[in-house]
Amino acid sequence: MLLRIVLTFPVRLVLERVSPAYKKQLASQLASLCEDGAQILDVGCNDGHVAALMLECKPSLKIVGVDVRADRPAMIERRIYDGRKLPFPDESFDVVMANDVLHHTTDIEALLKEMVRVSKRYILIKDHQKVGLLSHLWLSLFDCIGNVSYGIPCVFNYKSLDEWKRLFNKLDLRLALEHEKLKFGFGVFQQHNPIFKLEKNRNLKKV
Ligand SMILES: C[S@@+](CC[C@H](N)C(=O)[O-])C[C@H]1O[C@@H](n2cnc3c(N)ncnc32)[C@H](O)[C@@H]1O
Repeated sequence: MLLRIVLTFPVRLVLERVSPAYKKQLASQLASLCEDGAQILDVGCNDGHVAALMLECKPSLKIVGVDVRADRPAMIERRIYDGRKLPFPDESFDVVMANDVLHHTTDIEALLKEMVRVSKRYILIKDHQKVGLLSHLWLSLFDCIGNVSYGIPCVFNYKSLDEWKRLFNKLDLRLALEHEKLKFGFGVFQQHNPIFKLEKNRNLKKV
């Protein structure tokens, strides 16, 4: 434990400088994709910092969070659950979002299905996307840097854009807008960090 703290101290120093700007930009972009007054579930909210920043951008939003861990105090109302069945009835929220969460799970499809179940209409995803041969390596490296020092387990489960689109198709989700680039960083970083706003296809059967 002490060794981990000593070894990861320099990484945390850098992260604590970059992370506030990243979270602020992510929150403002996500808030702009939600309608005024929307009721939102933040899946994998951690300490709820991103959600709290979204509320600063758009105070009419109502956001609650769920996570599988509670190692940091939460800035929003947060429930802890088993990571499998979201503790809410079907169609409870206007928007269900997961920011940098799905690639931390071994079964992305199962969690996404749960998100679809509790959403009335929209699913918002900020995740990673593999682009080319070295992508998996890059993403794994940055994931380790960003998460291990905070004790968040990484399972390195990354999809290419085609794989994301196939999964959305399978779950009857359509892209409500062509996937957005994260408006933070540039070049390779942006390429690997898409945001998807998806809409349930209500004419088709429930998933
Ligand atoms: C990289 S952090 C992102 C936290 C937050 N969404 C943000 O943007 O700052 C990933 C989070 O996903 C959570 N997580 C992992 N598996 C999960 C699951 N099956 N359901 C909900 N949260 C999960 C982790 O506990 C962790 O808090």
